[in-house]
This record gives sequence, C-alpha cells and structure tokens, in this order.
Amino acid sequence: MDLEYRKLFQEARSARSFAVANFSNFPVGAALETQDGRIFTGCNIENATYGLTVCAERVAAFKALSEGCREFTRIAVVTDTSKLTPPCGACRQVLWEFCGDIEIILADLKGKTESVTLGELFPRPFDASFL
Ligand code: THU
Repeated sequence: MDLEYRKLFQEARSARSFAVANFSNFPVGAALETQDGRIFTGCNIENATYGLTVCAERVAAFKALSEGCREFTRIAVVTDTSKLTPPCGACRQVLWEFCGDIEIILADLKGKTESVTLGELFPRPFDASFL
C-alpha cells in the first residue's frame, strides 16, 4: 500500500470505529478524497426501523457535499471480512451521480486491498443525462 492509499485507509479505518451497527454487527468505514486533497469520512448508521440505515459511503459523500465539495478522486471502504466489501447498489448510484467515475479502494483490516473504478462496478448507470 503506498503512502497516499495508507492515509485514506487509516481515515476509513478510524471512521469504522464510530459505526452505529448494532443490528447487523457489520461496521463499515469510508473515506472520500476531494480533488483538492480533503478527506471526508463516514461510517454506517443503522436504526431500529432497519430501512433507514445509511451506509458509510453515503455518509461520507453527504458530509462532503454539504460542505460544498463537488470534485472527488477516490474513496476507501474498510470492513473486517474475509471478502473485501464493495459499495451497495444505492451507494453506487449516489457515488456515480455526485462523484463520477472515481477510484474505489476496498480494504480489510489486515491490509488486503483492491482498487476498482466505479465505472467497473456500475456499468451503464442511469443519471441526469437521461432526463
Ligand atoms: N454497509 C455499508 O455501510 N457499506 C457497504 O458498502 C455495504 C453495507 C452497511 C449497511 C448496514 O449497516 C451494514 O453494512 C450491513 O449491510
């Protein structure tokens, strides 16, 4: 893992420790990097209705968007699982619409990583260009 990746990974790993994941016991951390080098973190937030859960990736994206950021380069997603965890469908849609074809770095706590593009994970997306 190079130094740039490491910073983003560490931020995502720290954010994971704040996850509110009492129902799934599946804490996730994310760290989204802006074009100008700022990092916004997120963790998953669950509640008793289950359905109102928000994933770590969307929390990070909404935090950044609500601070005025509009240009993004990549996002790291950290879980503690044997299989690296890709963003869910809802997050892919949101990331596509607001971040474009960014790099997605999947990582676990042991340092295993994989880099993919959002375009690879989410081919032929629906977006505002169809409206
Ligand atoms: N989750 C995320 O936060 N990000 C993902 O990429 C996959 C799933 C959360 C949602 C829920 O709180 C828990 O993980 C189990 O689905």
